[in-house]
Amino acid sequence: MATYSRLPGSVALITLQNPPVNALSAAVRQGIVDTVQRALKDPKVTSVVICGQNGRFCGGADIREFAGPMLGPPLVPMIHAIEAVDKPVVAAIEGVALGGGLELALGCHYRIAHSKALLGLPEVTLGLLPAAGGTQRLPRLIGLTAALDLITTGRHISAAEALKLGILDQVTDSNAVDLAVDFVRSVAGQPLDSRRLSTLACPCPPDVDSLLDKVMAQVRQRSRGALAPVACVQALRAAATLPYTQGMEKERDLMATLFNSGQARALQYAFFSQRVVGKWSLPSGANWNNSTGRTISKAAVIGLGTMGRGIVVALALTGMSVVAVETQEKQLAEASQAVPAMLQREAGRRSLATPPGVITFSSNLQDVSEVELVIEAVFENMALKLQVFRHLASVCGPGTLLCSNTSGLDMDQLAAVTKSPALVVGMHFFAPAHVMKLLEVVCGPRSSPEAVATAMQLGKRMGKVSVAVGNCPGFVGNRMLKPYLEQANFLLEEGATPQQVDEALEEFGFPMGVFRMSDLSGLDVGWRIRKEAGLTGPGVEPSRTRQGRRYSPLPDQVCEAGRLGQKTGRGWYQYDGPGGRVARSDPWVHIFLEAYRAQHGLVARSIAPEEILERCLYALINEGFNILQEAMAAGPEHIDAIYVFGYGWPRHRGGPMFHAGQVGLGRVLERLEHHHHNHPDVPHLEPSTLLRRLVAGGSPPVQKWREFINKDRVHS
Ligand code: NAI
Repeated sequence: MATYSRLPGSVALITLQNPPVNALSAAVRQGIVDTVQRALKDPKVTSVVICGQNGRFCGGADIREFAGPMLGPPLVPMIHAIEAVDKPVVAAIEGVALGGGLELALGCHYRIAHSKALLGLPEVTLGLLPAAGGTQRLPRLIGLTAALDLITTGRHISAAEALKLGILDQVTDSNAVDLAVDFVRSVAGQPLDSRRLSTLACPCPPDVDSLLDKVMAQVRQRSRGALAPVACVQALRAAATLPYTQGMEKERDLMATLFNSGQARALQYAFFSQRVVGKWSLPSGANWNNSTGRTISKAAVIGLGTMGRGIVVALALTGMSVVAVETQEKQLAEASQAVPAMLQREAGRRSLATPPGVITFSSNLQDVSEVELVIEAVFENMALKLQVFRHLASVCGPGTLLCSNTSGLDMDQLAAVTKSPALVVGMHFFAPAHVMKLLEVVCGPRSSPEAVATAMQLGKRMGKVSVAVGNCPGFVGNRMLKPYLEQANFLLEEGATPQQVDEALEEFGFPMGVFRMSDLSGLDVGWRIRKEAGLTGPGVEPSRTRQGRRYSPLPDQVCEAGRLGQKTGRGWYQYDGPGGRVARSDPWVHIFLEAYRAQHGLVARSIAPEEILERCLYALINEGFNILQEAMAAGPEHIDAIYVFGYGWPRHRGGPMFHAGQVGLGRVLERLEHHHHNHPDVPHLEPSTLLRRLVAGGSPPVQKWREFINKDRVHS
């Protein structure tokens, strides 16, 4: 709702009330309509200030209302009515003015904000556009170029930036409502025509078409296949080229298309998934609400390679002090140069609440004796990690939390060699660790709720989306990646090229296809893991079967040829040189693939992009169902958050499990059965029992799977 009060000096104060962020629910909209009418009719009122309760102006639409029919007064006429009022109306912005909240403020004649306020039109991130006149008023206020940037990225901006752009009239370090009240008294009676944004022309650069074409190309490149950024550019084209009323019609039509698209649903689901995973729970019943973590102020990282360096930076950025240990002299010298530079760069990009913590470099594990938490990031080798954990157990106090960044080794085996197995958890970061948003917190069977809560809280402090997962080989993300990579290799054997596979996946929306991605990460990473698993290496037959199932030795042979990806300038593609970034098709790879097929009597066939997508994605999704069935992830939202934040799954497709629901579980099952029939030697294509049960149970929507799985477990 909205309250109305009359202040001395003929000012009406309207206060939005809908905790926590005064979202524009039906009741709030009705309250605004009523109070604005009251102010208009009251002859003693000469001016109006609109503010929000509890220091927050307005966080925008109430997205919980999206699911049902629209009730209460619509936003567009409400904002028009405010703009048309013949008494000055000022928005007093404290806290946030986001989405519909900023559109409301744009309908006011003036805008005054507190210096700590955040403003923005983030609708595009939910698959929508600002459809309460935002796409038409903002460019008329700040010009087409700046409006394109804000609306197509959805980024939040500070009050200082908003003032510079011309969105705000004044900014204050003290109370914004008090200033707005003083200000509105001073402008009472002045003409308002030039303050009604809908009546103004949109300031545009000379060559509007080329600007719009350039931005359209950029948004298409940035988020392939996403509809909302494209619609935002189209709406802004209307603002620049059509009268206001026609622009509003265009905005409304585009919004209707987006609202009914699966993409908006997927993006809203992704938004909620991020919240769901924060409320973690373990099969034991321990959860975020009944477990308390420790506040860590001193941590250590062991191993300063690719991952260790990023983890040190991520920890130091929270303000804690970090002991960074590396045994190889050359690596230590390099890291002690590189890490402070990385930290400085990253600290410069963010506005930190506390200064970064102090980093101490050492070659001696003894120096970690005083820390409260250790993250091990040495080579992916169980014998080495066991040795390090034993050493840590002897150096650190029994109350120290011992964590590993292993990509998929058994956390329980590591816990077993320590004095306090309950204080051992996995903290699986993604490269580069100080940038990537995902953290898998791996809970072993003996990990205590306190240890899990500490790791989850630490992840949050580092700005990560932390997801609690079970202890199984590869955990969740890498376990699902395995069948996906395997299918990609099989497709090469059967006739596809790396480009064809990558193009199909990039067209689906991944920023990089599987082969381009592997070249970037380094082909030796997987090679080492396969050697460790006894799948390749000296003395292993280079046949197409290993451990009783189909196996493709292709990636091993590429590594054996010295092609490790971008780092060596050659991999599945060729690059300008070692460290080169631009992938070009390499004739060597085509000759190599032909020779390989000839050697194994394989006849290349033409493979359609649909088959590439089905084989790669459905194999990955199928493993997701196995993971849910084994309770290695608490729900489909957890798997989807992992894939969106750690593996480049296109956000506008929600995540792999959500995508399966969109395609139709029956269809996914039927296609898996088809491909498994054609490739009976590939166990990953055999449909999961859970998938079969869900289909037999009427293919419930993804939000209901958890209930279904739990019920199923109770009955089985
Ligand atoms: P890396 O090879 O770049 O670095 C490992 C570092 O550990 C080297 O500098 C090495 O000298 C050092 N080291 C070896 N033994 C040591 C000891 N006893 N004490 C101190 N330092 C020692 O490896 P990377 O890629 O950083 O991987 C580290 C861990 O992170 C592995 O378990 C890996 O599976 C995991 N991981 C790797 C990811 C990646 O993309 N590279 C992603 C996520 C996890």
